[in-house]
Amino acid sequence: MKQIQKASVCGLGKLGACIAATLAQRGFEVVGIDIDAEKVARINAGQPPVDEPLLAETITAGRTRLRATQDYREAVGTDVTFFIPPSPSLPDGSFSNEFLLRAMQPVAAAVREKGKKGHLFVCSSTTTPGAVDSVLIPMLERETGGVCGRDFGMCYNPEFIALGNVVKGLLEPDMVLIGESDPQSGTVLEEMYRKYNQNKPNIARMSIISAELTKISVNSYVTMKISFTNQLRMIAEQFPKANIHHVLDAIGSDSRVGRKYLRAGLSYGGPCFPRDNRLLAFTARQLGLEAPLAEASDKVNHRTNQDLFEKVAKLVTKNDTVAVLGLTYKPDTYITEEAAGLFLAQQLKRHGYPVIVHDYGAKPSNAPNLHEFEHLDDPEVLQQRADVKLAVICCPWPQYSSVKFAPGTKVLSPWKL
Ligand SMILES: NC(=O)c1ccc[n+]([C@@H]2O[C@H](COP(=O)([O-])OP(=O)(O)OC[C@H]3O[C@@H](n4cnc5c(N)ncnc54)[C@H](O)[C@@H]3O)[C@@H](O)[C@H]2O)c1
Repeated sequence: MKQIQKASVCGLGKLGACIAATLAQRGFEVVGIDIDAEKVARINAGQPPVDEPLLAETITAGRTRLRATQDYREAVGTDVTFFIPPSPSLPDGSFSNEFLLRAMQPVAAAVREKGKKGHLFVCSSTTTPGAVDSVLIPMLERETGGVCGRDFGMCYNPEFIALGNVVKGLLEPDMVLIGESDPQSGTVLEEMYRKYNQNKPNIARMSIISAELTKISVNSYVTMKISFTNQLRMIAEQFPKANIHHVLDAIGSDSRVGRKYLRAGLSYGGPCFPRDNRLLAFTARQLGLEAPLAEASDKVNHRTNQDLFEKVAKLVTKNDTVAVLGLTYKPDTYITEEAAGLFLAQQLKRHGYPVIVHDYGAKPSNAPNLHEFEHLDDPEVLQQRADVKLAVICCPWPQYSSVKFAPGTKVLSPWKL
């Protein structure tokens, strides 16, 4: 297996486009592959195919080493292919393998056609624990006609990034997680990361199943911490003299606990936390076990959303307009998936309250589920909107701290902006 100089990245979405661009910026020759002709054309025009801070600059910096195609066969000329298509959740909580299979199969077939040995397949999409060994590798062995670990290598290498900070998160992670089919595949990937990363992260190498469990466990642990915080906040609110911020500040100063994700706010959301946590519960169920901690985090999260709706409903009457500000699951993104603000706006609408919404990243054009609401382009107009009796700041975009409201508008700011 060769040292990695040329890489292909299959799936040029929110994560894959950033992986391809950062690899090129860091000196690797990169071919991006996607079924979406528009994304391919944008990369070839030197433009970002998705909205993500620093992506445009990164593409420009690596422009001479980055190109894109719809032809999977071009992957064979590279030393490694990173696969990062979607792996959507299924109703039972497991993740679908379909997109990965469809992306890997033509690359494997092309490897066989060219008689290539030593290609490294890297799965970066999150998978259901066990899927790489029991579904993806058997398919690759069938399609390449080779044996994994001897004729080709396989690594499971998910990234721990947050949307809005993907470029920096990729280049300067706390940890690089490598699940490897064989030591040589892991070593080749580790050496690539030593050149690619701008910091010196912990490179955690292990079996593929260990890495699959690690990936979802990190997110499940964080959701448990967030739900613990919200549960404590709901208890503290019942005591007039209790101040949740004082409580959390003290708890967080204990180094065994730490301050990260110990901030009283709202529920967790987005494309990773909720579903990775549910995947851990699914994995336990598959094994005939229970994962009560993971299930409780999910339950408290739903309760946190419901609690906000009930609080808001107590502050207004049915004719009062409510402004829901911040519909994304975190600042610096346009993603509204499972976000507290979106849940609140939808609940208010379903219960007959007039609702207007605003967000700095999500607009009806990039988040079509916002079309059902009256959407404000500029929150400054709220100064003239006397009909708005309550404004709720659901996502802590820092810009909301300077927004001015009409004199009669009450403001609820769960993140204490
Ligand atoms: N977005 C995140 O915050 C995040 C964080 C960690 C992990 N992940 C994981 O990364 C994976 C991808 O997430 P994303 O947010 O980048 O998805 P995305 O939907 O933004 O992008 C997926 C891309 O894959 C392409 N694609 C689909 N099928 C393909 C195929 N057969 N061949 C080639 N390209 C194909 C799509 O056209 C699209 O460009 C998921 O498994 C997700 O769980 C995402």
